[in-house]
Amino acid sequence: MATLRLGDTAPDFTAETSQGTLNFYDYLSDGWGILFSHPADFTPVCTTELGTAAKFKVEFDKRKVKMMALSVDGTNSHNEWIKDINETQKTTVNFPIVADEDRKVSDLYDMIHPKADNNLTVRSVFIIAPDKTIKLILTYPASTGRNFHELLRVIDSLQLTAYHKVATPANWKNGEDVVVSPAIPTAEAKEIFDKGVDVIKPYLRMTPDPTT
Ligand code: BEZ
Repeated sequence: MATLRLGDTAPDFTAETSQGTLNFYDYLSDGWGILFSHPADFTPVCTTELGTAAKFKVEFDKRKVKMMALSVDGTNSHNEWIKDINETQKTTVNFPIVADEDRKVSDLYDMIHPKADNNLTVRSVFIIAPDKTIKLILTYPASTGRNFHELLRVIDSLQLTAYHKVATPANWKNGEDVVVSPAIPTAEAKEIFDKGVDVIKPYLRMTPDPTT
C-alpha cells in the first residue's frame, strides 16, 4: 500500500454502504467529494460528527461536494446507529456510510494507524477534486471530533484558488481579501485584479476576493 499524498489520484472502489452498493467514482460523478472515516459505530464523538455532517450537507451541496463516511462496522450496524444519530442529533443522515468490514477501503486510503489503534479507522478526511486528484488530507485522533466549518472553509479556498490566481491567508473566510499568487508579477497582478492590489511587501500582495 503506497502512502497517498496531495495530487495523487484518489483510489476508486466499490463498497457496501448504508445506501446500498456504491461505486465511488460513479457516486462523485463530475463533482467534488469528501470521504471521511470514523472509528466505530455507536460511539459518542462519532455520533455528534455524523449528525453535524448531516446538518452541513446543504452547504456541501451548494459547493457540489458529495459526502461519504466510512467505518469498519457492517451495514446492519450502520443502519441501527443511523436511527440513534437521527434521534439524538435531531437530523436525518442523508449521505452513505461505507461498511468497510473487510477494510478494503481503509487500507486503500491508509485509514488504520496501528499504533493509534490496530482495529479501528482514525478520523481521516480526503477532499477530492472533480478530476479525482486528492486536494486535502487530514488525520485527527479518535478523541477529537472534526470541525465541519473548517472543512467548508478549505473547500471554499480550494474552489476559489482552482479558478483564480490567488491563495487564501490564515483564518480566511469566504468573501475576505485574498493573497495574490506569488507566481504573478505585481504589474500583471494589477491588470488581472481590477479591484486593486495592495502591495504590503513585494512578496505579500492582497486583493479583494475576485468573485464578490
Ligand atoms: C467516539 O467517537 O466517541 C470515540 C471513538 C473511539 C475512541 C474514542 C472516542
